[in-house]
Amino acid sequence: MSENALARLALGVEQACDELPMVRVSGSVAEIAPSHARVAGLSLYLKLGDCVDFESGGLSQRAEVVRIDAQGASVKTFETNTRARLGDRVFRVGPMQLAPHVSWKGRVINALGVPIDAAGPLRQGEEAVGIEALPPPAMRRGRVTRPLRTGVRVIDLFTPICAGQRIGIFAGSGVGKSTLLAMLAGSRDFDAVVIALVGERGREVREFLDDALALNRAVSVAVVATGDESPTMRRMAPKTAMAIAEYFRDRGESVLLIVDSVTRYAHAARDVALAAGEPAVARGYAPSVFSDLPKLLERAGPGEEGKGSITGVFSVLVDGDDHNDPVADAIRGTLDGHIVLDRAIADQGRFPAVNVLASISRLAQVAWTPEQNSLVIKLRGLIARFEDTRDLRLMGGYRHGGDGELDQAVALVPKIYEAMAQAPKSEPSKDAFRELAQLLQEKT
Ligand SMILES: Nc1ncnc2c1ncn2[C@@H]1O[C@H](COP(=O)(O)OP(=O)(O)OP(=O)(O)O)[C@@H](O)[C@H]1O
Ligand SMILES: [Mg+2]
Repeated sequence: MSENALARLALGVEQACDELPMVRVSGSVAEIAPSHARVAGLSLYLKLGDCVDFESGGLSQRAEVVRIDAQGASVKTFETNTRARLGDRVFRVGPMQLAPHVSWKGRVINALGVPIDAAGPLRQGEEAVGIEALPPPAMRRGRVTRPLRTGVRVIDLFTPICAGQRIGIFAGSGVGKSTLLAMLAGSRDFDAVVIALVGERGREVREFLDDALALNRAVSVAVVATGDESPTMRRMAPKTAMAIAEYFRDRGESVLLIVDSVTRYAHAARDVALAAGEPAVARGYAPSVFSDLPKLLERAGPGEEGKGSITGVFSVLVDGDDHNDPVADAIRGTLDGHIVLDRAIADQGRFPAVNVLASISRLAQVAWTPEQNSLVIKLRGLIARFEDTRDLRLMGGYRHGGDGELDQAVALVPKIYEAMAQAPKSEPSKDAFRELAQLLQEKT
């Protein structure tokens, strides 16, 4: 054997030793239930959230550890059907990790980081990161000061967003949350857009991505877990998306993170918690769901001083249009603003169906100039007057000339509404205030 071949052999062995752990600890499947499986013999080596692999008939299947006790560990597979059989060997894999790379922009992946867009394998980055991470320490976080232009007129005017802000879109089903998110994804003000689609119907995913990515595909990464995937996958998708957003943030980029919807993430977290034996406390939700939500949402926001930021937009389904739903409540408290979509407005055919009076952005003062601030206060006053007198006017109780402010509201508000209307595929607005002023001038 030549010296060269010997060196190559030595290098090969060395590499294999690095890649293959010398010892693998294994346990075995002790119980199989529709919602989870129990593994005996591994409890001392596992942490919550770790992954394990079942070895079943030469095939391996991955699962997440959701409960550990002295007798064993409860695990839930990432596939909907478990192939495990009693006695199958189970190996510890460790925490779920990803190695994001800039070339992921433009790609569509699943919650485990596997590409699903038929564009070939994903290039792996140099550093692997866990999908569970802590937000940057509060005192070292940058401040939220830079206003953004989203290109959606009604938002840029009434609930402007700043880089690093977290905002929720609250609405009942079918009122236009996903459409509005897709419009926001087309905003030109971001270096990267990361979209997590959780629990959507398969048909909608394609539609959403085609619309959302029409303008920004080159800078977007989508993480998809459809409604028919397992709760473990659906619960993981926003965390995977968050880890990718954090990777771009730490490269100094301004990132837009969109999660549609956080409610479906909470549903998945509920299924996992119940399988782990937690009690149901509020409308069937286990306590851990309410501690998981802020843990996830807090990770969005400004990065450490000098790094980029993650602007988070989260859609929240309010069941039966009940805005006091426990998940909606828990989420509202953690965000810096909420945009409320109203079914009554959608029924009038006004889209985006934003209820301007019920929506607030806690950082609007930072985004508006003093003149814009006083203009918006005036506009909101007119809209409030117009909406308060809707019934009165319908009953014919309004006569022009009796109340100057009401006359002004009746004359202007329909025009403001018209100016706010925006179709999903229309060109993003460049300067919402100027466009409104122009339209009002033309019409008066
Ligand atoms: N900007 C818009 N312009 C015109 N129509 C719109 C607009 N936004 C929403 N719509 C209409 O509302 C319908 C529902 O929108 P969308 O799917 O975005 O709602 P959703 O709140 O995400 O629903 P779900 O709760 O089922 O996820 C769309 O099919 C479309 O007809
Ligand atoms: Mg939707």
